[in-house]
Amino acid sequence: MYSVRSSEINPFTVMQLLQRASEFEAEGKQVVHFEVGEPDFVTAEPIVKAGIAALQEGKTKYTPAQGVLPLREKISKYYAKQGLDIAVSRIQITSGASGGLVLLAGLLLDPGDVMLITDPGYPCNKVFARLVGAATKAIHLEAEHGFQLTLPDVQNAWEDNTKGILLASPSNPTGTMLAANELARISDWVKQQRGFVILDEIYQGLVYGNSPYSSGLQVNDDLLVLNSFSKFFGMTGWRLGWVVIPENAQERFTKLAQNLVISPSSIAQNAALAAFSREAMVIHEQRATEFAQRAQRLAKGLIDLGFKIPVMPEGAFYLYVDVSHTGIPSEEFCWRLIEDHQVAVTPGKDFGAYRSDQFVRFAYTTGDDSIDLGLERMAIALRDWGVMR
Ligand SMILES: Cc1ncc(COP(=O)(O)O)c(C=O)c1O
Repeated sequence: MYSVRSSEINPFTVMQLLQRASEFEAEGKQVVHFEVGEPDFVTAEPIVKAGIAALQEGKTKYTPAQGVLPLREKISKYYAKQGLDIAVSRIQITSGASGGLVLLAGLLLDPGDVMLITDPGYPCNKVFARLVGAATKAIHLEAEHGFQLTLPDVQNAWEDNTKGILLASPSNPTGTMLAANELARISDWVKQQRGFVILDEIYQGLVYGNSPYSSGLQVNDDLLVLNSFSKFFGMTGWRLGWVVIPENAQERFTKLAQNLVISPSSIAQNAALAAFSREAMVIHEQRATEFAQRAQRLAKGLIDLGFKIPVMPEGAFYLYVDVSHTGIPSEEFCWRLIEDHQVAVTPGKDFGAYRSDQFVRFAYTTGDDSIDLGLERMAIALRDWGVMR
């Protein structure tokens, strides 16, 4: 009775690890969480207050499918501060980046089409394409190339039925960014093939050091950009995001949104109006700085323990760590770490198949004390397993 497509979706190992973690917590044991892909901070106070006010003022109805105009205007101004002129008409509010991906799949793909994605990469991407009858083809990312694509990778993978490519910068799980010149080369070439480039910028703002660009739209205005209030703005549970699409796609996109979801959450949109206030931005920036400091703390600790981090992240809140020196395949490594020492990390397998046995993802979405405790426990684990003396 159920669809073939729904049967094809792989469960995430991290969900099973989380289940095990909650069993330990129910026994009163403290678990160190390095597996969670969302900020540990709660939503900033100005946004919460705006959300409460929205409820009290009765902003509880459907909104236009594109989202409320004041929020689209604020996003346009946010781009203006980055030196970008993005017309409000190109900005559409969605139910998280996930909602944006559903609509973009509907906008861009037909049955039989292929969209290029990366391995490792965000694991849900293939499901959005598959749900509209299209397929994905994964291009392997090499540590030597900073876990990012090069133009020859894209050219080699491109076939007659390829319609476009989905890139992420900074990316999940590696936190690396696509260099500006490579993004320019890839997007120019794909345009010549009459294909599309979606750039997932959901970790925009969580970038450390010298960022090659604040938005890929500075590199190429033709990109379809995916963004979200989840990560930098700390609003994962509000389910709000946005896309930037070309002028000529607006009408189709709006029709899709009207039919599939009617509108994004009115309360979340009205709350998000406060996300760009000076007061809220100070909080977001402080948190981004804290993530950057945690990245250093955790990376140093892991390297001291003998782990390799082939490419240091430029953003997001993840370290993609090579555990091969332990001689233990990454999934088993994760299970042993949670079972024996109550430290939760995500195996590479959840992000693809390429060399996934070798890698695990550490999320530093937990405070310094917890990071230190995790490192202490891992030191004990490595001694127990005879990896370290
Ligand atoms: C790369 C990437 N894209 C998209 C999403 C979806 O995010 P949301 O729907 O919360 O905006 C995530 C979530 O972790 C992600 O890591």
